[in-house]
Amino acid sequence: MHIHRLEKIWLLIGFSMLVIFLGVIGVGAFALGMQPPTGHHQAIDPDKVDETPPFDRPGLEKIGEKEYNAYMVAYAFGYKQDKLEVPVGSTIHFQVTSSDVVHGFQIPGTNVNLMVVPGEVNHLSYTFKEPGEYLVLCNEYCGAGHEYMATTIIVS
Ligand code: CUA
Repeated sequence: MHIHRLEKIWLLIGFSMLVIFLGVIGVGAFALGMQPPTGHHQAIDPDKVDETPPFDRPGLEKIGEKEYNAYMVAYAFGYKQDKLEVPVGSTIHFQVTSSDVVHGFQIPGTNVNLMVVPGEVNHLSYTFKEPGEYLVLCNEYCGAGHEYMATTIIVS
């Protein structure tokens, strides 16, 4: 009788642990599910890009030692900011949106290649380990001035 009682207690403890464990997992999954989607498809009104922070002031924002945010606006036919300059070894966190139609944001020779969709903010980070003049090009046909769409990142 005494042993039987002890077994019951242990069973109860084991069962409680299981319930708590499942509860934690469940709550964790729920919390994750409730989070807004990270990264790639943050919404922005394409007609109000010029007034929407941080795109009202496009360009570089220094956030650390050789670390920058670059807020870029693609438009027909160009990019704001016109030219970016960073020291060698800098990491740039690009945030790119469009104020009109779909554009591209590609830096040949790197893995930077974004489709820039109006209404969305696209993110990509890249570390510029080699000095040079990096060309940013549009690789989505966007109209008569498509092939002239470009900006430069100078790494020195
Ligand atoms: Cu912008 Cu092609």
